[in-house]
Amino acid sequence: MDFTDKIVVVTGAGGGIGTAIVRKFTGLGAKAALIDVKEEFCQRTVEKLGLDADHAYCLAGDISDEDSVKAVVAKIMAHYGRIDVLINTAGISGPSARVEDYSFKDVKKVFEVNVFGTFLMMQNVLPVMQAQKSGSIVNFGSVSGLFGYPYEIAYGATKAAVIHMAKSAANENGGNGVRVNAISPGWVNTGMMKSILASYKDVGIENSSDNVTLGPMNRPGEPEEMANAVAFLCSDEASYINGTNFLVDGGMTLG
Ligand SMILES: NC(=O)c1ccc[n+]([C@@H]2O[C@H](COP(=O)([O-])OP(=O)(O)OC[C@H]3O[C@@H](n4cnc5c(N)ncnc54)[C@H](O)[C@@H]3O)[C@@H](O)[C@H]2O)c1
Repeated sequence: MDFTDKIVVVTGAGGGIGTAIVRKFTGLGAKAALIDVKEEFCQRTVEKLGLDADHAYCLAGDISDEDSVKAVVAKIMAHYGRIDVLINTAGISGPSARVEDYSFKDVKKVFEVNVFGTFLMMQNVLPVMQAQKSGSIVNFGSVSGLFGYPYEIAYGATKAAVIHMAKSAANENGGNGVRVNAISPGWVNTGMMKSILASYKDVGIENSSDNVTLGPMNRPGEPEEMANAVAFLCSDEASYINGTNFLVDGGMTLG
């Protein structure tokens, strides 16, 4: 796979999976635009990966805020002049709670970031890719968007929406050189996974493994394993893959 001088935009670039995605694409020659709620989160990734200013552009941006998204996309265009790849990695899990205990405020927050944020990024980047007649977008779904796991009504519903938005946009594009796909990981070894497991105490589960199925591989995925799948989906090798939801879960959902 070769992404030499391709411009890759990664939201949530300060997080566990976002960092691995930036590492993967820049390792394949790309130049990255890193977006996270605080610029220092992006800087942390850049320092960790030892990227030079030519290959990394850090931006503070809140994907759930329309003005912020428009400003960030405008800055990337002014800096790099094009966008070849958009990876919508940013997301939040929200608390663990039964439906009747889940606050409406929390439900709205999870939807604002995961659904509206992903929508706003797609809406503002798609015209750039359409004008270029090339581009690839990957949305981060989850196995939670496919099955009715307990205590995550908001997270699961938002991830179903994120997968659906990829399919809808894939159907509107595709023939114009722009492909849109989703990836749905199972458990991935990041800060989000640790905080979800810790929050099971809030629903009375003391041993978090009681609420976790890892499947035949009996381990969570590593962020690098997600990045490998994302890079493939965005590469020329995946030129006929459009509108798919790529399950990367080690088989945990096989039953
Ligand atoms: N870790 C898992 O087990 C797992 C499983 C399935 C899917 N996912 C999905 O993978 C993606 C990455 O997860 P992760 O494990 O790396 O989580 P993470 O918490 O390590 O990283 C998420 C990043 O998104 C950023 N972010 C949050 N809200 C934002 C906003 N409004 N604007 C911009 N950035 C924002 C955070 O600051 C953080 O850096 C998420 O969409 C998550 O739902 C994770």
